[in-house]
Amino acid sequence: MQFKEEKYNTITKEKINEMVIKFYTKILSEDGDVAKVFRDKLGENLETQHWVEHIEILTNFWAMIALQEENYNGNPMMAHFDLPLTRDMFGEWLVMFFGIIDSMYEDRLGMVFKQRAQNIAGNFMRNLRL
Ligand code: HEM
Repeated sequence: MQFKEEKYNTITKEKINEMVIKFYTKILSEDGDVAKVFRDKLGENLETQHWVEHIEILTNFWAMIALQEENYNGNPMMAHFDLPLTRDMFGEWLVMFFGIIDSMYEDRLGMVFKQRAQNIAGNFMRNLRL
């Protein structure tokens, strides 16, 4: 019999950090337009200073959403105005994000991240007139 890998049934800051790192590792392993935007803005690999900062910011961002922590005080929308984004790229982003979430979290918890990501992506696209 095959054992199914256990998925997380709790959310902690540590697991959020793991999730953020996995997500951007996945993005940088791709060749698509989303990967290009991240490479151009933050660098080729997660060791650059820009990436280290981005990962910390995004860990705090998701901890604010999922754990009601208060360590994020940026403006997510502003960060995207000057990037060359398209609707297709948001689709690509969401597929990769959902894939990571589904691989890590039980459905009930994964929904927290997926619903918020989808809502925020919708808001971004509306504000960017995409
Ligand atoms: C096509 C899709 C997306 C691309 C290519 C993208 C790319 C980027 C890049 C390059 C940055 C860094 C900007 C900088 O440091 O100047 C950034 C920041 C950020 N992104 Fe995205 N993003 C996308 C979608 C999303 C979505 C859907 C969310 C939320 C669910 C999100 C949340 C954030 C947050 C919280 C920041 C940090 C803002 C801050 O500095 O406080 N992004 N994004």
